Amino acid sequence: MLEVKDAVVTFPNGLRAVDGVSFNVQPGETVALVGESGCGKTTVARAILGLQPLSEGSIIMNGEPVSRVTAGLAKRVGMVWQDPYASLDSRWTIGRIVSEPAQMLGETINVGELLTSAGLDPSYANRYPHQMSGGQRQRVAIARALALRPPLVICDEPTAALDLSVQAQILNLLQDLKENLGSAFLYISHDLGTVHYLADRVMVMKSGQIVESGSSASVFENPQHPYTQRLLAAVPRIDRLGVIPGSATNTEEEESPAHT
Ligand SMILES: Nc1ncnc2c1ncn2[C@@H]1O[C@H](COP(=O)(O)OP(=O)(O)OP(=O)(O)O)[C@@H](O)[C@H]1O
Ligand SMILES: [Mg+2]
Repeated sequence: MLEVKDAVVTFPNGLRAVDGVSFNVQPGETVALVGESGCGKTTVARAILGLQPLSEGSIIMNGEPVSRVTAGLAKRVGMVWQDPYASLDSRWTIGRIVSEPAQMLGETINVGELLTSAGLDPSYANRYPHQMSGGQRQRVAIARALALRPPLVICDEPTAALDLSVQAQILNLLQDLKENLGSAFLYISHDLGTVHYLADRVMVMKSGQIVESGSSASVFENPQHPYTQRLLAAVPRIDRLGVIPGSATNTEEEESPAHT
């Protein structure tokens, strides 16, 4: 479904932020891209969305080359950005935010149903982002990404800006969605621990290159590359929190709405 082949991104300052990356994602599969800050993960995501031109290599999505942003691509790839405080337009209601991708394509969606699937009460459609907590905002961002039922959803560190307890809830939501929707996920994180549960496969990225990849279990339990071993040693304890039953539909998160 997604094929990234020998992709290189060179920035004007000469930095090869993505330095010959190849991988593919099959329908329904969850693949994690893991690596330290600055290794090039977001640049890979931006390239897949057509936001970042490649200097070498190619990206094929559903048989079509990706070279720029197109409405058709928006339908095939949903995106959840790292920071739910920055990624939602503060002047818009939640209903408008999650409907926007559909509206752009002249499609109608059931907002109430969509919010429910992300663990939010349908009445939240009339709220504004500042009336919601960080976890709730990230649920909105996830709902928006899923609105058009894209075959691929990219999540770029979707829990990085959230409290630990809320991180677990968002991970549970993603786990539920993964099981129920059949979409493929490309899940980006600096944290091997959080990807352990979600990912079928893990790719470890260092300085623009993928240095190790394999099934989630094998990379987690038997890391080959010293860099992967270092990442594992840095795994915070969230993986020990495990999956909290039922929390994916729990909108009463243990945090207060943020002030903007
Ligand atoms: N527009 C740009 N121009 C120049 N350098 C850039 C640009 N965007 C990113 N970089 C650099 O490219 C490298 C990769 O950045 P990228 O954002 O892809 O990393 P990342 O793995 O997503 O990091 P993080 O975990 O902090 O989000 C970094 O060194 C970054 O400073
Ligand atoms: Mg990033």
